[in-house]
Amino acid sequence: MKMKLPFLIALLASIYIEDGTFVSISDQVFSITPGTDEEVEIIKNLTSKDEIELCHPDSAHNIKMNSDVHLYMNISDLDFVKDLLHKNGIKYKVMVENAQELIEMQTNKESIGPRSFTGSFYEQYHPLEEIYSWINKISHEHPDMLEIILIGSSFEKRPLYVLKLTGRRNSPKRAMWIDCGIHSREWISPAFCIWFVQNAIDSYNKNPEITQMLDNMEIYVLPVMNADGYVYTWTTRRMWRKNRSRYEGNNCVGTDLNRNFDAGWCTKGASHDPCDNTYCGPYPESEPEVSAVAKFLREKKDSMKLYFTIHSYGQMLLFPYSYSYNQAPNHDELQHLADEATQKIQRYYRTRYSSGPGATTIYLAPGGSDDWAYDLGIKYSFTIELRDTGRYGFLLPPQLIQPTCLEVLTAIKTITSHVIKNT
Ligand code: ARG
Ligand code: ZN
Repeated sequence: MKMKLPFLIALLASIYIEDGTFVSISDQVFSITPGTDEEVEIIKNLTSKDEIELCHPDSAHNIKMNSDVHLYMNISDLDFVKDLLHKNGIKYKVMVENAQELIEMQTNKESIGPRSFTGSFYEQYHPLEEIYSWINKISHEHPDMLEIILIGSSFEKRPLYVLKLTGRRNSPKRAMWIDCGIHSREWISPAFCIWFVQNAIDSYNKNPEITQMLDNMEIYVLPVMNADGYVYTWTTRRMWRKNRSRYEGNNCVGTDLNRNFDAGWCTKGASHDPCDNTYCGPYPESEPEVSAVAKFLREKKDSMKLYFTIHSYGQMLLFPYSYSYNQAPNHDELQHLADEATQKIQRYYRTRYSSGPGATTIYLAPGGSDDWAYDLGIKYSFTIELRDTGRYGFLLPPQLIQPTCLEVLTAIKTITSHVIKNT
């Protein structure tokens, strides 16, 4: 990613050599579908290697027979892994042939040549420093609509800024919250929050639904909750999910912020092992990023009517519960609303989103922010898993930021207007 060599690498995923084989020259993403328990075990074993990253499902415990597993493989492991899969007769597909090329496109340092894409600021991914500058700039440009609130700091002491977005009418009594970037590798998520703020400001007093939203709700937006992890994905390790906290006695770094909330904390679906991708942390709200958000929402809980947390990938609209199979008290209303919202998405670009409670739609996953917000009293609480379903996965090209955001905005508008009518 520094000089000219990656440019060459980007052109070719593999080099043909004389004996009739191809040698890969980039990291790759595989999709593997284990057909037996034995194959499940082999794949689980692979994920314990440090340079092999599990992209889907989130945790090795959820690797099941006959369901797809997406693995990001370092170039150094490719031959070994392909060999192992062949030997065991395990079928796999190379989903991303040239991961480095996709990373170059996402970090767009004008090196890709003819295929390069230079969209506007809102159609690009940005490192944290640029996001901080943007927060400052846009707030200065729209002092009548935006206010910066410092809600706390990350483990490595980076500031956590929330943007308070309002229309120009007198203060509404309701509030809603959107957070992005709980998981650092899900770059489309912060891109969504940034795009959303800009779009709302531009559409205010032009688009009736946005105007209604801003006139009736204070909107609190946290663009990057996992600031430290986000920086780490830009500098060191693209597929990092957790934050960067360290605890004495732990032999690995990072807690899964979406397993650290105080909602069924660390029951089935999370891990006490600090080396796991779904490590729940030493105790609920141990992580400064989680406690900052929890404290803020607790203070605002009387006016807070609607909670969104933005993740990727999977194209899903999820609601409580994820820590148990119990139905939420207003389950039918939430399901109905989610169906209506996903139909709007489908009508937009034909993109299919599935919907339902987290536990039955994906798997048990306790300690999540959506469940915690719900149990705090926010009766409309949603996790949105943005595009795609694995074709690019976390390496979604910048060209797809805008369509991803536009279609999901239709869902958010639908849900918000229901909440305004019913609270
Ligand atoms: N992929 C997300 C995760 O595993 C899904 C979150 C759904 N909500 C939840 N509370 N687990 O964190
Ligand atoms: Zn996530």
